[in-house]
Amino acid sequence: MPNATWTITQTDFSPENHKAYEGLFTLGSGALHIRGALEEPIAAAPQNLHYWRLPGNVTSEVFREQRSKVGTFVPGVYGSHPLLNDELINLPNPLLIVPIVAGEQFDLDGSRTETHTRTLDLKTGLLTRTFTWRTKAGPDLRITHERFVSMARPRVLAQRCSIEVDAPTDLVLRTGIDATVTTNGFSHTQSVTASATCPHTSVDLQTDAGDRVRIDGRLVSPEATTTTSAPGMPEGGAWLATSVRLAASAPVVVERFVTIATSRDTRDRMGTDCNQAAEMGFDALLAESVEAWSARWSACDVRVEGDPHAQLALRTSLFHLFRAHPGEDDRVAIDAKGYAGEAYWGRFFWDTEMYLLPFYLYTEPARGKVLTDFRLRSLGGARRNAASLGLPGAKFAWESNPAGDECCPNWHYADHEIHISADVVFGIAHADAAHPGAGYLEGAAELVFDVARYWMARTATRSGDDHPSLLGVMGPDEYTPLEDNNAYTNALAAFALRTAAGLAERRGDARGERDAWRRTADTLPIPRRGALVLQSEGFDNLPAADFAARWTDRDRPFAGQVPQEYLYRTRCPKQADVLMLMWLFPRQFTLEEQRAAWDYYVPITTHDSSLSPAIHGLMACRLGLPDEAWRFWKQACDIDLRGGAAEGIHIAACAATWQMAILGFAGLELANNTETLTLTPRLPAGWSALEFPIVWRGSPLTIRVTRADVTITSRAETEIQTMIAGTPHTIAPGRPTTIALATGTSR
Ligand code: BGC
Repeated sequence: MPNATWTITQTDFSPENHKAYEGLFTLGSGALHIRGALEEPIAAAPQNLHYWRLPGNVTSEVFREQRSKVGTFVPGVYGSHPLLNDELINLPNPLLIVPIVAGEQFDLDGSRTETHTRTLDLKTGLLTRTFTWRTKAGPDLRITHERFVSMARPRVLAQRCSIEVDAPTDLVLRTGIDATVTTNGFSHTQSVTASATCPHTSVDLQTDAGDRVRIDGRLVSPEATTTTSAPGMPEGGAWLATSVRLAASAPVVVERFVTIATSRDTRDRMGTDCNQAAEMGFDALLAESVEAWSARWSACDVRVEGDPHAQLALRTSLFHLFRAHPGEDDRVAIDAKGYAGEAYWGRFFWDTEMYLLPFYLYTEPARGKVLTDFRLRSLGGARRNAASLGLPGAKFAWESNPAGDECCPNWHYADHEIHISADVVFGIAHADAAHPGAGYLEGAAELVFDVARYWMARTATRSGDDHPSLLGVMGPDEYTPLEDNNAYTNALAAFALRTAAGLAERRGDARGERDAWRRTADTLPIPRRGALVLQSEGFDNLPAADFAARWTDRDRPFAGQVPQEYLYRTRCPKQADVLMLMWLFPRQFTLEEQRAAWDYYVPITTHDSSLSPAIHGLMACRLGLPDEAWRFWKQACDIDLRGGAAEGIHIAACAATWQMAILGFAGLELANNTETLTLTPRLPAGWSALEFPIVWRGSPLTIRVTRADVTITSRAETEIQTMIAGTPHTIAPGRPTTIALATGTSR
C-alpha cells in the first residue's frame, strides 16, 4: 500500500487529464528534466507538429489543445525562435519502449487496458506504471515500467520494463529515441544524425543556436531475446526492436540507460556515459539516486501532522523544487514552469527572487547563492536591455534567457513591467541579510549600482511636481497597464536605490551619486487615499469590474471570460500587488494600512495568477484572519496536484506553498526584517504539529511547532536569540529547547 503522504497515484487515464499528469510526473535532476509522458507514442498526439505559436497574451496565455506533450529539457539549451525570441528546446524523446504483439502496437487510445496505475514516489523519484494489456490477438500482458532520472548522476535516465504472460506469446519491444519532437510547433534542429547498432541507440544533433546535444541509449535485454535495428522503424530517430518469445509466468525484464550530454557541459560535468550506467544496472543506480534524494529530504522536508493532504501537497512542491534547481550551474536559474513544459518558453521571471529564492536561502543556502549568482552572470544582458532603450545602467529582463537578454515578445510587459530590476536587488539584499558575512551585496556592487543608475534615468519629474515619478509602468498586477507611480514598483525601486546608496557609503565611494540615489528613494511617492495605499495614481477612479455579470464561471480565470481591454479599464488585479508590497515590507506600513489594503483589494482581486493566493494567505496569517488564511492555503497548496500541471509545474507557487507553511503558519519572519529569529505560530485548526529544518543566519535548526509549544533544536555553535510569540528566549546549541506558547516559559 503506497504511503499517502509520499506518493501520487494516477488511476484515471483520460484525454482530458493526460497532459496534467505528464507535467506533474516530470522527473529531473537539476541538469535533465523529462515530463511524465508514457513509454509509447499516442497516435492521436503527434509530437512533431509544425505550427506558428504567435506571441500570446502573457497575462492569460491560451495554450494549444494537444492530447499529450512529451518533454525533455536540459537547462541552458535554448534555440532561437523567429518570432518568440529564445526558448528552451524540447529535445528528442528518449523514453520509448513500445510493445507490439501480432502486429498490434500498444496505444493508450486504441488498446484495451486493465488496472492501469501510475505512482510517483516523491521520496525516491521513482515513477512506476503497471497495467494489463488485453491484446487483440488474445493474450494478456502484465507490464510494469519503472523509471527515474538519477539525482546522483544528473544526466542519466534509467528505465526498467518487465512483462509477464499466462500463455506463450511472441512479443516485439521497440525501444528508442524520437528526434522529431518540436518545441511550441517549431524545430530547433539544424542537423541530426541518428544511429542504432544493438544494443546502442544514439541521436546527435546541432541546434539552431549552435549547441550540440548527444543522446545515447543502451539496452540491456536477456539472452533469450534478439535485438535488431531492422528496417521498418519510424523516421527521424534511433530504434531497436527486441523479439522475445514470452513463456507463461516467466517475466522478461529489459533495462534501458540513457545519457544526455551537451556542448554546454564542461568535461567534468559530462559525467557518466550510458555504458557505465548499464554496467551498474538499474538497482544500483536507483540505490545511489535514492541516497541523494534522501539527503535533500533530510535538509528540507516539512512535516505536517494531522493533515495528510497538506503533507502530500507540500511534499509535491518540495519534490519539484529539489528537481528544478540547477545544482551548481549558475549559468541558468529556474524557469517559470520548473523545466516541466514549453509554456513561458523556459524563461526566468521575478519568480526567481520573490518566490523561489527564500525557499533555497533558508534550506540549502548554497543553492540560493546559485540563483543570485545567475543574475550576476547575466548582468551583461541587463546592460544591453537598458542600452536598447537608450538608458544607462542595467535593466533586468522581464523574461530572461540565460544571458539576461529580454525575450518577452510583448512590448508592454518587456518595457513596462520594470519592477524586476528592483526585485533582483531585493533578492540579493535578502540573501545578504539571511547569510550575513557571505558578502552577497559587496559581491554584487556593480549590479546594484548599475540598477540604481537605470532607476535614476527611468524616473522623471512632471511639470508642477516637486518629486520624481515612475511613469508608465506595469506593476505585478498585469491587468492594469501603464500606471503612474505604482506603489509596489516605486517602493521596490526606492529600496534598490537605498541599497545602492548604503553599499556605496560602506565602500567609501564618492558622495555625488549616492546622495542623489537616496534623495530619489526618499521622494518617490507611494500613492494613498487616507489609510488606503493605492496601487497607482488614480487606481481608485477606475470602475470596479463587474464580477457578478461577467465572471460567470468562477472555476476558470476571469481573463478567459472578458476581453483584455475590459481588464485594462477596470479594477480587477490579476494578483497581489499592494498586498505583495506590504508582505515584503511590514515595517513600512501600519497595521491599519495593512487592514485597509486587505479590505479593499481582496474583494476585487481575481487571483488569475498562481502567484497570488499564497501571498494573500501570508497576509491573512499576519493580520490574524485564520479562516481567510485557510481559504487561501486551500487555493494555493495543490495547484499542480489538482490538475494544473499540463503546461508545466507552477514552480513559483510550489515555493509560495512552502512560504505559506513556514512564514505564514509557523510565522517565521524574514531575515531582512529582523535579526532575531522570530516566530509567531498560527497553526491551522486541523494541524497538530508542523516541523521543519531551517538555516537561520548561518545556523542550522529544526523547529517544531505544536498547538501548545515550539521546540527548537539548534546545531549552531553559539546561542541564538529568538522571539517566540512575542517573548524573547535564548536557544542554547545542542539540546532541544521547548517554549510553551500560552505562558511563554521555556524548558
Ligand atoms: C504572472 C507573473 C509571473 C509569470 C511567470 C504571470 O502570469 O502574472 O507575475 O511572473 O506569470 O510565472
